[in-house]
Amino acid sequence: MEAGRTARSPVAATIDASPVTPEPLSPELARVAAEPYYQPVGDEAALFEAAYRKRLPVLLKGPTGCGKTRFVEYMAWKLQRPLVTVACHDDLTTADLVGRYLIVGEQTVWMDGPLTAAVRAGAICYLDEIVEARKDTTVVIHPLTDSRRVLAVDKRGERVPAPDDFMLVISYNPGYQSVLKEIKPSTRQRFVALEFGYPAAELEAQIVASEGGVDPDLARKLVKLGELTRNLKGQGLDEGASTRLLVHAAQLVSAGRTPVEAATAAVARALTDDPDMTGTLDDLVRAVF
Ligand SMILES: Nc1ncnc2c1ncn2[C@@H]1O[C@H](COP(=O)(O)OP(=O)(O)O)[C@@H](O)[C@H]1O
Ligand SMILES: [Mg+2]
Repeated sequence: MEAGRTARSPVAATIDASPVTPEPLSPELARVAAEPYYQPVGDEAALFEAAYRKRLPVLLKGPTGCGKTRFVEYMAWKLQRPLVTVACHDDLTTADLVGRYLIVGEQTVWMDGPLTAAVRAGAICYLDEIVEARKDTTVVIHPLTDSRRVLAVDKRGERVPAPDDFMLVISYNPGYQSVLKEIKPSTRQRFVALEFGYPAAELEAQIVASEGGVDPDLARKLVKLGELTRNLKGQGLDEGASTRLLVHAAQLVSAGRTPVEAATAAVARALTDDPDMTGTLDDLVRAVF
């Protein structure tokens, strides 16, 4: 039991705040009600669906802001599965994923973590940025990703078998290269890997126009700017503008800001703090608009 830990966790705080009904909070099982807008870039939807039918786990790799999360939401809607998303961070423990005992008044109650809840519900569990999580957390997903398809809930002495419609999806950004932040071969070789990149210019312009609520001409210019920043990767920028940043710029324009203002704030300033690079990006913004 981890009374010390749980006393600090926001979940326990919520429970303490409502002593009248000390119900353990069940992790949110989100049903994706409406079709998310997703612009396919290749045959990723068919591959994902094939993996789901064959009960294979999937790894999405690619830079930030290129549509991985949106794709999982779309697939959850398409396959009619609830979606449980966990944003992994370097403090994430096995207990955060699997569950823990909480002390509620005089009682000790078990609370399923998001992974356990997803397994029981036959949901799609999406572990976003898995390499950020602590190493021991990846061990718990191993028995779920091979023919055993079982989750060991050690603290309860329980083994939860995964129903056929449970699916594990993980993502990572291979761009952040660091020895510490690599997926071990023993983990990665369990997954079908789908590679994501920035969509081709015309597709990306459609996404920016649709998500940002701007006309196609402005969307194309923003995509042009995005491409120019991507060419600076490795020359002072760790990463160029993502589709997400271009959508942000478009949204600022649709809220009444000028394109230069919007691109400066949403793209140029968002990408760097370095004064030289800031100057270079400002030049690019002026050149495009
Ligand atoms: N293929 C796509 N179809 C629709 N929207 C997209 C697509 N790719 C990127 N986007 C837009 O970019 C934003 C960021 O995408 P997201 O899925 O959150 O990125 P990631 O999870 O890869 O970091 C989305 O909110 C959406 O507006
Ligand atoms: Mg994401």
